[in-house]
Amino acid sequence: MKVIITGDHAGMTLRNELKNLLEEMDIEYEDTGCTCETSVDYPDYALPAAERVAKGEFDRGIFICGTGIGMSIAANKVNGIRATVVHDIYSAKLTRQHNNTNVITMGERVIGPGLAREIAKTWLETEFEAGRHANRLGKIANYEG
Ligand code: RB5
Repeated sequence: MKVIITGDHAGMTLRNELKNLLEEMDIEYEDTGCTCETSVDYPDYALPAAERVAKGEFDRGIFICGTGIGMSIAANKVNGIRATVVHDIYSAKLTRQHNNTNVITMGERVIGPGLAREIAKTWLETEFEAGRHANRLGKIANYEG
């Protein structure tokens, strides 16, 4: 599995924590996030990273900002991206099993690093159940065109 991780100035510390997790899990990743502490605009990071997931260059994306919300809104504008904000373990599991999300977003100003690591680990390790869920996702893909 190849993962792209990105984020803005408000998600730098959590992004670094999650890079440590990816290294511990021996998962290949590229970090395209902000490298400075000055204020940047989250779409400038979310959109190009989401495009690289949609093109198949990466299997999954982990996008971090202050709330996870802006990253999620921007990523979902890219065709083929199923992104969601996740701040609990149950949703991390279900959003893979039922929604086959290829991007997860989290907010450094919302959750602590311990929970964020557990969420990312659960999300990375959970498989899509397909079946009736594939049919439902097909309806969204058809809408995208
Ligand atoms: C930056 O202040 C903040 O707005 C951004 O990180 C994110 O939370 C937006 O949704």
